[in-house]
Parts: sequence; C-alpha cells; structure tokens
Amino acid sequence: MTHALTVEAVSKSFGGIQALKDVSFSLKTGGVHALIGPNGAGKTTLVSVIAGELVPDTGRVLLDSRDITSASTHTRARLGLGRTYQVTSLYTGLPVRRNVELALIGRDAPRLGIGQLLRRYRPASFDREVGDILDDFGLADHQGVLPSALSHGDRRRLELAMTICARPDVLLLDEPLAGLSHADAETLVGLVAERLKGEIPILLIEHDMDAVFDLADDITVLVNGEVLKAGTPEEVRSSAEVQAAYLSEDDDL
Ligand SMILES: Nc1ncnc2c1ncn2[C@@H]1O[C@H](COP(=O)(O)OP(=O)(O)O)[C@@H](O)[C@H]1O
Ligand SMILES: [Mg+2]
Repeated sequence: MTHALTVEAVSKSFGGIQALKDVSFSLKTGGVHALIGPNGAGKTTLVSVIAGELVPDTGRVLLDSRDITSASTHTRARLGLGRTYQVTSLYTGLPVRRNVELALIGRDAPRLGIGQLLRRYRPASFDREVGDILDDFGLADHQGVLPSALSHGDRRRLELAMTICARPDVLLLDEPLAGLSHADAETLVGLVAERLKGEIPILLIEHDMDAVFDLADDITVLVNGEVLKAGTPEEVRSSAEVQAAYLSEDDDL
C-alpha cells in the first residue's frame, strides 16, 4: 500500500495547551481520508502542520515518502500539496473565465507571476478545456463576471475548479461545505465524488457528517488532540467511544 501523505507521531503545544498529542495517520493513494472531531480537537492545528503554516514540536510529515516537516508552504505547493484557500486564491480583479484560464496555464508553471501567466502561449485545445470546466462546475453563465459578484456557492465551486486545474498530488479540503446552503453543499459533494475521488488523494476536514460518511474511505477521529479512533466509516459510526465523544456536541453521527 502506498501512501500519499503520512503524519507520524506529531505533537504540538501552544504554551500550556497541548493541541496535538502523538497523532499518526496515513492517506492512501487515491482515497478520501476524513479527519473529524469536536471543536477544539486539534483539526485546524493538524491541517496547519500539514500545510506548513505551523512546525510541530515533534513528529514528521511525509508527502509520498519525502519528509516535508520543515519545508515552506511554497515548497509544499511546488511538491504537489494543494490546499483550497478561500477568496485569497482567486484573482479578484479578473473575470471568472480568466481565473480558470490562469489556473490552467499556471499548473505547469507554479512559480510564474500573473504578468508572466497572461503573456504565456495558449495551446489550441485550451478554450475547449476552459469551457468544459466552466460547464462542469456550473459557472458557464457567470464566466464574464468578477468573483466578487458570485454567490457563495458559485465562488466555492470556482475555488474547487481552480484547485483541480492546478493538479495537486494531494488535496486538503478544510471545511469545504462551511456556510453553504444544503443545495450548494450537495452539488459540491457531487463534484468531489465525480471529479476528484479516486483521482486525487483527499484529506477532508468537515463538520457535515452526511458528507463525511458519503465521501470518506477512511476516517480518523481526533478528540482533545489525540486519535480516539481510526477506521472505515462503518467502524467509526458504530464505535461507542466515538458516539460518546460526540454526545456533548450537537452533531449527529
Ligand atoms: N495559535 C494558538 N494559540 C493558542 N492555542 C491554540 C492556537 N491554535 C489552537 N489552539 C488551541 O489548541 C486546541 C486545538 O485547536 P484547533 O486545532 O483549532 O481545534 P479544532 O480545529 O479541532 O476545533 C484548542 O484548545 C485551541 O484553543
Ligand atoms: Mg478548526
């Protein structure tokens, strides 16, 4: 079994608070691995350690089999770790179609700035590929407007489309459904299932348990900075200790 991403015995403290205690898990090549847990469990801290925004006190992070524990966020992106950011990842001054074009042009040249991207050569098949992406992500009718004019759901789909254009080797989806309407959330889950699952290994951090159980192949449950349970969705759903950990929350498991 090859692993796209491995977290090995990672610990991280903030002053007196130990946010992560000896956390380990592996993301299989081609799989969706969900990271769940109540508020304060350490999910955001773990994502920040993986993305390179925080250095762990102890432990290692491996991308494929390469140690990236102290690599910069930029180096990680170049090595193929893609993260969906919020509005910051969009070119806010350019229309939706131009955003998708630039994401596609940039996928082989992540070090180029926007000026260089705009001057780059466009292959003949390019316009069709851009059109297909806009269609698939329900953005064709909005291709001429600025990202700021999009609804919240449209903007999330644009971010996801651009992330996919960048062809990451591993994708971190950090609460992709937060703030979306039920209909927009369902559409996004469908896009991830159809366009991404099996193609790109995904680490999914999400509060929406329906989405987690729909999409995940494996689930790691964090509670108080520690791995409480790791297993298949069935194993996690039927675990008495997991149910107990969620009793204090409103989340339905
Ligand atoms: N920058 C920080 N400084 C101090 N404490 C932090 C910081 N970030 C997170 N924590 C603490 O670490 C614990 C885990 O937080 P977090 O990773 O945000 O959990 P989650 O994302 O699962 O809700 C919490 O007790 C939180 O208060
Ligand atoms: Mg969090």
